[in-house]
Amino acid sequence: VNHLLGIKYLNESDIQLIFETADHFKEVINRPIKKVPSLRDITIANLFFENSTRTKLSFELAEKRLSADVINFSAAQSSVKKGETLIDTVNNILSMKVDMVVMRHPNPGAGVFLSKNVKASIVNAGDGAHEHPTQALLDSYSIREKLGDVNGKNIVIVGDILHSRVALSNIFALKLQGANVKVCGPKTLIPKFITSLGVEVETNLKKALEWCDVANMLRVQNERMDISYFPSTREYTQQFGVNKALLDSLDKEIVIMHPGPINRGVEITSDVADSKQAIILNQVENGVAIRMAVIYLLASKIKQ
Ligand code: CP
Repeated sequence: VNHLLGIKYLNESDIQLIFETADHFKEVINRPIKKVPSLRDITIANLFFENSTRTKLSFELAEKRLSADVINFSAAQSSVKKGETLIDTVNNILSMKVDMVVMRHPNPGAGVFLSKNVKASIVNAGDGAHEHPTQALLDSYSIREKLGDVNGKNIVIVGDILHSRVALSNIFALKLQGANVKVCGPKTLIPKFITSLGVEVETNLKKALEWCDVANMLRVQNERMDISYFPSTREYTQQFGVNKALLDSLDKEIVIMHPGPINRGVEITSDVADSKQAIILNQVENGVAIRMAVIYLLASKIKQ
């Protein structure tokens, strides 16, 4: 398959291959010369129909460090605003001899739809509340780096599970690697189907933190809510926000993760986000090596 559309299309050995390839590229990007000439013959278009800081810049940097030619497209400044369709937009870009498309889109399934309708390798950089596969890969890679292995670890994903592509892709990736996974949050923000994925629900944050080795803190995605959900931001913070006093009350030191962007003082306080327990910036650093690995492995299939 010449696409990365979601973790649900991968198996455990695909993930290990991506990690081993990322190990190599992590070593490369720590050298004084951070580039390799591997993809001099590949052209990649980054299409962002939704805002992004980390994912957009990290893909661009990954592509440049592989020596690919890169073009960036932001829907907000494009002819999409004049009514051009997604397929017309992408086919026009592909006619400029582009090999691969990295796309973030607000609609779940947009990457799958595109992969069936255009002739290019597609990488999903986040499709609505569906999947964010490279985020889940960099998250697992960061756990592996910090704790040695993902297998057998207890991971809790805390927050707005209902609207989170990060949660869904993480659940698929963590379960494939043999982790024990719980989700924790208000009942209104946990979808009913989640237990069918082999995940337990815990609505008491302290109990969830006492159980886990790693807590992945998610942002409440107010922009995806079309009705008024309980709880209010203040209630949410009281019940599901992580602060230093709560962490200090545990009898062990857990690892704190966050995919960003952080709402400081809502799901996580600054003294936790900036503490040595948090690996939030390591996650961002690892995103470049993971995305280099994904693009390199897909490009080698294009070249065959
Ligand atoms: N983690 C993440 O996807 O961040 P951005 O929305 O800034 O890309």
